[in-house]
Amino acid sequence: MVLIAGGTGFIGKATEQAFLAHGFKSLVLSRFPTKPNHILWNPSAPFKGDDRLSEVTHVVNLMGESIATKRWTESRKIALTQSRVETTHYLFDLCKEHCPKLTSYIGISGVNAYGYSNTITRDESDAFGTDFLSQLIQKWETAHRDFEFLPSFHMIRLGMVLSNKGGAYESLSPLLKKGLGAVPGSGEQHVPWIHLDDVSNLICFLSQQPQKSVVHGVAGCCTQRELMVAMATSLQRKIRLPNLPAFALKLILGERSELLTKSLMVSTQKIYALPFELEFKEMTDTLFKQ
Ligand SMILES: NC(=O)c1ccc[n+]([C@@H]2O[C@H](COP(=O)([O-])OP(=O)(O)OC[C@H]3O[C@@H](n4cnc5c(N)ncnc54)[C@H](OP(=O)(O)O)[C@@H]3O)[C@@H](O)[C@H]2O)c1
Repeated sequence: MVLIAGGTGFIGKATEQAFLAHGFKSLVLSRFPTKPNHILWNPSAPFKGDDRLSEVTHVVNLMGESIATKRWTESRKIALTQSRVETTHYLFDLCKEHCPKLTSYIGISGVNAYGYSNTITRDESDAFGTDFLSQLIQKWETAHRDFEFLPSFHMIRLGMVLSNKGGAYESLSPLLKKGLGAVPGSGEQHVPWIHLDDVSNLICFLSQQPQKSVVHGVAGCCTQRELMVAMATSLQRKIRLPNLPAFALKLILGERSELLTKSLMVSTQKIYALPFELEFKEMTDTLFKQ
């Protein structure tokens, strides 16, 4: 039985389907349960318990307030951190008390762990950066390590997750359909990416490997221009507007504009060395057909 914290989200829903396809039963922890296998919890209040948790063998932690949707005010930064760090400690206490059969844990984090660079390719052993996101990821992964004593413990540093089922594509499609898509910054910034189906299958695969690892959940690094063109092409559109200057995006979005205007290059050596086959390896419009 797999328990997914954050199982109601974009990646969580696909991950639950991947586990079901592999013969698992599933439970989902949610503040807003809507299905019989959802368990109500609130990481800022005592947990009431649920007998079904005694059968849980695998845990996947996908929790966290959205990084891209709101301005990074000081209070938002606290919410982004607490919804990953404190909630993970809370999940650990819950599992310690209610999940005696637990053997496997997958903790998600992000590739924004090293600071930005247009020239240096980072690998999983590189040091954390000093910017807000790098520091958040360091704290988040330290919290994941509560579970490191388990025989199977993996942390996946995800790149931008792509699919037509949500994420950036869902947000940008209305603009692209109206011909209002534009490339942020110079367009030459690198974006590490992976398809949703590959993420959900990778999580399911790694959770069954009795080892400990940290791996980039990344199929490749494309440029922002290549990403925008692939999205537009999938909607039979072209990018005709001029690029959006980085300074204008900073004025509109504040600090989080760095998600669009700064460059990240990360190694994919470890993921391609796994006995796991990625389905989507090239940045093309076909990524957005499913
Ligand atoms: N999508 C990407 O491209 C991407 C890339 C790198 C890393 N990630 C990380 O992967 C994780 C999942 O991403 P996603 O795109 O699936 O996010 P999502 O769709 O926004 O889902 C987030 C999940 O987290 C839970 N959650 C949010 N705030 C919470 C809080 N304060 N306390 C407890 N649970 C909370 C929600 O559960 P309920 O509302 O049901 O309680 C929801 O199921 C996130 O941590 C995200 O930062 C995502």
